Amino acid sequence: MNSVASAPGKAILFGEHAVVYGLPAIAVPLSGIRAYAYCSANESPLTLVTEDLPGPPLVYGSGAMDISDPMALVVKLTLQHLGASAMAGRVSLRSDLPIASGLGSGAAVSAALGRAIALLRGACIANSDLNSIVYEVEKLHHGTPSGIDNTVVVHEIPLFYRKDQAMDQIEIADPLWLVLADTGIAAPTRAAVADVRALANQAPARTAALFDRIGAIAHEARCCLERGATARLGELMSANHRLLRALHVSSIELDRLVEAALDAGAYGAKLSGGGRGGHIITLVDELSAGKVAQNLLEAGAKRVMTTTVGE
Ligand code: MEV
Repeated sequence: MNSVASAPGKAILFGEHAVVYGLPAIAVPLSGIRAYAYCSANESPLTLVTEDLPGPPLVYGSGAMDISDPMALVVKLTLQHLGASAMAGRVSLRSDLPIASGLGSGAAVSAALGRAIALLRGACIANSDLNSIVYEVEKLHHGTPSGIDNTVVVHEIPLFYRKDQAMDQIEIADPLWLVLADTGIAAPTRAAVADVRALANQAPARTAALFDRIGAIAHEARCCLERGATARLGELMSANHRLLRALHVSSIELDRLVEAALDAGAYGAKLSGGGRGGHIITLVDELSAGKVAQNLLEAGAKRVMTTTVGE
């Protein structure tokens, strides 16, 4: 039996960090940029091969698993959900998404792996169950995740996300053209989230005011997405980036790429995800995409990807 499971990356268009404190955020799946899990039955015990990571294959026998390893935790929780203790099979993981780069690589790999384990068992796993599993694994990556990454990656729909509230899908009126540019700097989300928490403890009133302004932007951005008001959407992205700078989660490299995108005619640009490194996202149109991508490379982006959302 050979089959493949997958899950997309994600981009946070608005509201990262503030979402951890209950403010709304907007995230979209990057359906063309995915993590894949190729499965075959002919190996025992269960063996995982990660094509993008060095080191020997990971083998999961019937003994205790090291559940501080995110992949072991996915395997354990998925097997538990399916009522099994051990299994055979081989899963080969490959991802288009660089690790710790703000595009939801951890959640996408976990979701693809959970689906692969279910496939190998000849079972189906509901998105809501997979979402709970991936959320548990996100705690290893992020510490105190809001749940936005796992939810958008597993359900693969544009979301107006609020922590602990029912899913709220956004209808995007006009497809969005995005150029994603990588600083090439791996930046673990956990550290940025912890630093924002320290800032919130140190300067609670100022930080809460920044979160409120980010939340207000997310509300207005939802209306813009539903009306196809692209130019205003771009302005809101850049305004959101300035607020993230005030939260100290940007960096010289991210700011340089944001400026380069705006100089080349992007509607707006911002960091996306935890920040400090990883990717910026820029809102463009079909005509400006090439020039923006070129400028970003000249400004030091390690790679750029152009994608559309909402088609
Ligand atoms: C990470 O993709 C988004 C953050 O808001 C963290 C979270 O929501 O869990 C920085």
